[in-house]
Amino acid sequence: MLKGKKIVLGITGGIAAYKAAELTRALVKEGAHVKVIMTKNATEFISPLTMQTLSNNIVYTEMYLPQSQYDMAHITLAEFADAFVIAPATANIIGKIASGIADDLLSTTIMAADKLTLICPAMNDRMLANPIVQENINKLKNHKYVIMKSGVGELACKTIGAGRLPEIPEIVEEIEKLLTPKSLAGEKILITAGPTEEPLDPVRFITNLSSGKMGYALARVAHRQGAQVTLITGPANLPLPDVEVVIKVRTAQEMHKAVIDNYKKATVVIKAAAVADYRPKVFASEKIKKDDKPRSIELVRNPDIIAEIGKNKTNIVLVGFAMETRDLLANAHEKLEKKNMDLIVANSLREEGSGFQTDTNKITIIDRAGDVQSMPVMTKIEAAEKILERVAGLMKKKGGKKK
Ligand code: CTP
Repeated sequence: MLKGKKIVLGITGGIAAYKAAELTRALVKEGAHVKVIMTKNATEFISPLTMQTLSNNIVYTEMYLPQSQYDMAHITLAEFADAFVIAPATANIIGKIASGIADDLLSTTIMAADKLTLICPAMNDRMLANPIVQENINKLKNHKYVIMKSGVGELACKTIGAGRLPEIPEIVEEIEKLLTPKSLAGEKILITAGPTEEPLDPVRFITNLSSGKMGYALARVAHRQGAQVTLITGPANLPLPDVEVVIKVRTAQEMHKAVIDNYKKATVVIKAAAVADYRPKVFASEKIKKDDKPRSIELVRNPDIIAEIGKNKTNIVLVGFAMETRDLLANAHEKLEKKNMDLIVANSLREEGSGFQTDTNKITIIDRAGDVQSMPVMTKIEAAEKILERVAGLMKKKGGKKK
């Protein structure tokens, strides 16, 4: 989360400057304090008043203003910021920073700052491909500036190529990642997410209401915290998080195989998927046609993936979930013991703010010592942070990492 984080957003003069408005809105929504510096050219593309309204702060455009208005802004802004973001960054600002030129408020502030700086280039594809621009980008990378890869697609000049400003959620995610302490560095985390589908015939299947949101939130947060993440996901209708490995599966049996093939490389396994306990015994290769007789479907058990890992567990931390409609804590305790988990995250379908499709969750974390940590309703990203905090604690206790 960016709650309370201080971000100075530099906007330079390219057509993508209008997208800085949306970026500011997204950062403020995440709880960040945003102060904006605009170059003179940027103000030709988007009004400082727009940025002032969205950031809830005065917008800095001039280097030289009466002392009474603000005091050496290039120094105070450099000190204020937890991170700098330049979006969009033109070839001009990239060239200026790379050459040590400080001739306006933005370039001077960047020169005076020793904070994390994320640069999001946006320009015509030939400008971006220009070897001088590329050389400048490489020079900035060598000096620890973080450069986001530009998007590929239609550009304002109607050509198609590289040079688009990355999508706003991607920029926000990159800022989150840069500002998150790397408490899971060195860990290899396998996370399962989403529902499974158990087909009856080519057009029908049995599934459940899982959206995958909790598992995807865990994958995103673990990645931000420096873990190497393998996400094994059932069919979920969500944008994929930016993690090292994504394996898409459909059925419980496919998920079982993917987990068994991969979990031995992991230091932590988190099973957030809602795996179907049963599948139809017979898969009809042709569509089943109706008749007037009643029908029943014979079901057979699917493998219990987490129980199998629990049985063979050596040095990994194993985290499971329990979704219940009654006797939440008793059922969760029983699953924790029976499946040999280290932590179980219990949530109830009966609680407001909890459930499969929601963006929030109300979780209770139970450990082997019987400690029960009940949390209030929070976003699934916040819940993921709480769960991973406990995982990091267990890893620390275990000491040493499996490489
Ligand atoms: N799980 C699994 N493989 C299965 C079923 C469940 O790995 N075939 C995992 C889930 O990912 C979750 C935990 O087991 O982490 C608990 O799942 P849940 O369905 O709540 O519990 P079950 O043990 O299946 O018990 P029941 O359905 O009777 O509540």
